[in-house]
Amino acid sequence: MNVKIAPSILTADIGRLAEEIAAAETAGVDWIHLDVMDGHFVPNITIGPLVASAVRSATRLPIDAHLMIEAPDRHIAAFQAAGVDLLTVHVEVCPHLHRTIEAIRESGAKAGVALNPATSVESIRGILPYIDLVLVMSVNPGFGGQKFIGGSLSKIRQVREMLDDGGFSDVELQVDGGVAVPTIRDVVEAGASVVVAGSAVYNKNASVAENVRLLRKALT
Ligand code: DX5
Ligand code: ZN
Repeated sequence: MNVKIAPSILTADIGRLAEEIAAAETAGVDWIHLDVMDGHFVPNITIGPLVASAVRSATRLPIDAHLMIEAPDRHIAAFQAAGVDLLTVHVEVCPHLHRTIEAIRESGAKAGVALNPATSVESIRGILPYIDLVLVMSVNPGFGGQKFIGGSLSKIRQVREMLDDGGFSDVELQVDGGVAVPTIRDVVEAGASVVVAGSAVYNKNASVAENVRLLRKALT
């Protein structure tokens, strides 16, 4: 199955970040996913433009930043300047979503919108003509290593149908949270074109190369 794998560096060894990213690139992943958290929209605090810039220096792969932050408009320019290729904002914190998406695109980056597990698919129908990616969260955002929420599969199918029926098949459908060997196949069959995998790629059980191989194998 033809799907892009985007490792989240959340569970990587941050002290060896460049090596961890190089290992994923060598293993043949497609994008690098950055989980940006502000301690307000989600309980956790993670990385900002400074680390995004270090990631940019470590890889030629496309970088997508998943902004789990309030008032994301304030930080678009800084992440774009850091070399991030695609910025995804949460619909739950964007009262003027179209304006935010336009600002991202005007900065030169691609734009995505993310939906929390309890957020309706309908909330993104009107923005589809203006975006490059929809991110369906399959855990509540905030932490790596959580259990995949089974009900996300029907939501992924709904978004896939909405994209294809509306003539937006070029828009990427990214799924994030709990994607691992037992779940990746169902997620892709439901319609994902990009999967984020954090703890399934960066863990203590096996090397990054072996973990990426296992994810690909689960899709054959
Ligand atoms: C959750 C993040 C995810 C997550 C992925 O808030 O957006 O990217 O860290 O990690 P796993 O694959 O371990 O669920
Ligand atoms: Zn994420």
